[in-house]
Amino acid sequence: MRARHLENRIAYIPAQCFTKTIGADRRVHNPCYVCHRRSEPPNYTNDDNLQLSLTFPVPGSTNPWTNLFDPPLARAPRWSDDDVLRYVRSSNYVDDRGDLTLPRRLDHPPPDWDGDGNGRWDGYRPDVWFRFDDRGFDHLPNGSFSGWRAFAYYPFPGTFFPTNGSTDDVLIRLAPVLQQDAAGAFDASIYAMNLAVVEALIVGADVPIEATDERGLGVDLDLDGRLGRAERVAFDAARDGSGRTRMHYVGRAREEERSGRLGIAPGLFPIGTEFFHSVRYLDVADGRVAMAARFKELRYTRKVEWLTYAQLKARSETEALEQQQSTDGVREILWGREQGINNGQGWVLQAFIEDRDGELRPQWFEEMAACMGCHGGIGATTDSIFSLSRKLRGRDVPRGWFHWSQRDLRGLPEPRLRDGRYEYTLYLAQAGAGDELRENREVIERFFDERHKLRSAEVDQLHRDITHLLLPSAERALALDRAYRAVVSEQSFAKGRDAVLAPSENVYASPPRSAETGIVTPVR
Ligand code: HEC
Ligand code: HEC
Repeated sequence: MRARHLENRIAYIPAQCFTKTIGADRRVHNPCYVCHRRSEPPNYTNDDNLQLSLTFPVPGSTNPWTNLFDPPLARAPRWSDDDVLRYVRSSNYVDDRGDLTLPRRLDHPPPDWDGDGNGRWDGYRPDVWFRFDDRGFDHLPNGSFSGWRAFAYYPFPGTFFPTNGSTDDVLIRLAPVLQQDAAGAFDASIYAMNLAVVEALIVGADVPIEATDERGLGVDLDLDGRLGRAERVAFDAARDGSGRTRMHYVGRAREEERSGRLGIAPGLFPIGTEFFHSVRYLDVADGRVAMAARFKELRYTRKVEWLTYAQLKARSETEALEQQQSTDGVREILWGREQGINNGQGWVLQAFIEDRDGELRPQWFEEMAACMGCHGGIGATTDSIFSLSRKLRGRDVPRGWFHWSQRDLRGLPEPRLRDGRYEYTLYLAQAGAGDELRENREVIERFFDERHKLRSAEVDQLHRDITHLLLPSAERALALDRAYRAVVSEQSFAKGRDAVLAPSENVYASPPRSAETGIVTPVR
């Protein structure tokens, strides 16, 4: 926690970028477009050019993620299936009595966790209880609200599919003012309404709500010009790109907004928004793969600074200029020790990971540096965040506000892009696989024929149920758990934290700098 210098100064460039886009058979593969793409304001990191050419910073001529070529699994003693299952089923977050284990340790942090040596933990103290009601709200053991709310989302294409190593979940919490009525008392229905407003702002579309009397709230939620009955929160954004909107928060937040203390803008989360994200092992129950109790990582972020469109644009431009003018093209990383990484776009990120014994410990500087690129450095995110814009919104699910432990991915139809294309099918076709590195044989064999064409029967099944692609076989799940556990034993996360089963063939050890990727037209 006290480190000041990084061994790997380009840890913010993930392993995916070192994929060989041209295969041994000379076919071109593009798993890059999901992250590097033409951005939509207020994301000003327009980086679809990175689909085309390998413009790495100078140290990028060596791939730092060496666990890909030299997987720890190869040197690890073999765990039996029973050992693996026993391990992944025991929680390192909640103890047998239902108490949270990590906060107890953070109350008396060991010296090597205490970055500034003041005897206290000054970062995030985990406070999600995983006791959800039927609207996805989390509750303390005494029944009160923790403020956290779980939601379901379509996993991001590639690495984040469970078939490539991990299951995960995401919860959101808004700042206290957005949870309160005008008098400042907690009010779950006001809170739910503000979450619906945030969802509409982030998704950029109307969000259906339970019929609500707008007169009580004093806000025209459906923007029909009068205070009456609303059945949706209407989305609105000024066409001039200024970030103005006619939308409003409700309750006390409305007052804060009026007095100029709380900003509201399309594509931006309100200040104080937090996300909790657990990355977990794969469990196998009755032959089916499910989310394990054990955390690989606990990841967290909080919006600490409100930036307008103009300020965000200026930050992106300064960032790009600084990178151009630096001698080696490497980005600086703002490290706040116990408070994590500041991504320069208003958010701080923090995380915990397993120690050698499987207990959660804070991630060190070298490990945390990896968070900054995906969250804040690419065109794909909405205000540095991935999942909320990918939230489930179908009629057949309780509006997407639930935790995966209440209902899993099974039976979910495949998401479509705005132009109607099926999102995961497009990924399979572009990447030529279900993972960036084309190492997931199981997906390749299921979805591609000998001529490397997609099999239509399998694709049809994927359209109906995404688990056909997303979930691995039980055998593969256990192998992936073993592979990751081997990284934990070595504590070699700084060399890559993917679950690697065998040395990767399709990845550069030394990418040719500034070479063309072979991809001719960026995927939009
Ligand atoms: C999961 C998301 C993701 C995928 C997939 C991905 N990248 Fe990246 N890439 C990143 C991030 C994050 C960075 C760091 C951006 C930053 O903060 O400057 C990055 C950086 C880069 C850079 C260095 C750019 C610079 O200015 O320093 C190159 C080159 C690159 N990626 C190429 C690729 C290629 C080619 C592919 C496909 C084979 C690819 N990436 C796939 C997320 C991704
Ligand atoms: C390779 C890119 C990548 C890296 C590196 C990365 N993340 Fe993420 N993160 C994602 C994606 C993609 C999601 C959405 C999860 C999904 O689709 O399954 C996500 C989700 C999250 C969320 C939930 C909010 C959101 O954006 O959806 C938090 C919090 C988070 N990550 C924190 C972190 C922290 C802390 C680190 C560093 C330890 C980190 N992330 C590293 C890609 C990345």
